[in-house]
Amino acid sequence: MNQALLFALLVASARGSAIQRHNADLSSRVRRAASPYDEIDSWIGSVPDDTEKQRSGDVQKMLADVGKYISVHKWIGFDRRKERTDGIINETFASSFPTPPLVEIHKEILANCRKSIFECIQVVYLAAAEYLESVDSPNPRHPEKNSTSSMIETHDPFKSVLEDFNFRTSASYFLCYFTLQRVPVFRHFDCKKSRFREDFIDYRAEYNVPYGCAELSFCPETCCSKPSVSPDVFGTCLRSKGHDSENFCSRNNRGSMCRTVPFLNENFKDLALNAINVTCSGHD
Ligand SMILES: *[C@@H]1O[C@H](CO)[C@@H](O)[C@H](O)[C@H]1NC(C)=O
Ligand SMILES: *[C@@H]1O[C@H](CO)[C@@H](O)[C@H](O)[C@H]1NC(C)=O
Ligand SMILES: *[C@@H]1O[C@H](CO)[C@@H](O)[C@H](O)[C@H]1NC(C)=O
Repeated sequence: MNQALLFALLVASARGSAIQRHNADLSSRVRRAASPYDEIDSWIGSVPDDTEKQRSGDVQKMLADVGKYISVHKWIGFDRRKERTDGIINETFASSFPTPPLVEIHKEILANCRKSIFECIQVVYLAAAEYLESVDSPNPRHPEKNSTSSMIETHDPFKSVLEDFNFRTSASYFLCYFTLQRVPVFRHFDCKKSRFREDFIDYRAEYNVPYGCAELSFCPETCCSKPSVSPDVFGTCLRSKGHDSENFCSRNNRGSMCRTVPFLNENFKDLALNAINVTCSGHD
């Protein structure tokens, strides 16, 4: 192991423990949630990657829609469990999964993502297709609404916005997890639909970085995290290819380059708790 990598690993584990300390109170508050997550951790490593079905199911096309569906939730969704008295959306899931984590994972996600990677993608795709149809078609009920506001307001195909929130958050846990485990089907898919904000184009999409679209669509931007995030800050951070004065590494004087570490993020529960490990280095 070379020295640079060793340093990265040390930083990564320091980050893990720092976040775990930070989340200590959170863990006790979600003790009830511990069992579903522990159970998922017991089988998540052996979910079949059924490549035969993926070929016949045209999974790349499905992923393009799934990418848009989940990235809308990531960039402009908000926590439906929390009451918004001021009417201001100031907490998206751009840099972290919702806190506290879900107490229950959506049943359909759980059942299908346990069966196989294809089944997992398909169950999200079916919801994504209905959702995209409802936001892309002119809305007779609210003709004055532009597409950004209709994207936020609809809960199609679910009964409530709360169930929609639960479904999409559950889906993002699994899809981000499989992406970080480098399941091959997530390597490349068409990112155009995920870029619904022009200023959020980042180097991973632009240079067709393997797994870049999937990370951009499904995972929080751990490296761009900051207590208060504005779209401007995000635009700058994403364009900076991981070099940014506000990222975890810069703020802790570990060099300016920050990346998520695929194989050091194998714990599903810790992923949902936002204990995502990163590496830091000085140069590209
Ligand atoms: C969002 O606004 C609420 C109410 O004003 C505040 O309590 C909360 O800390 C804010 N969250 C962020 C991430 O700024
Ligand atoms: C679309 O609606 C959103 C939310 O109501 C608003 O913030 C935004 O400025 C609108 N965009 C346009 C182009 O009208
Ligand atoms: C990050 O690393 C820490 C320390 O090795 C580990 O406990 C934690 O589970 C890791 N996080 C994820 C999401 O796997």
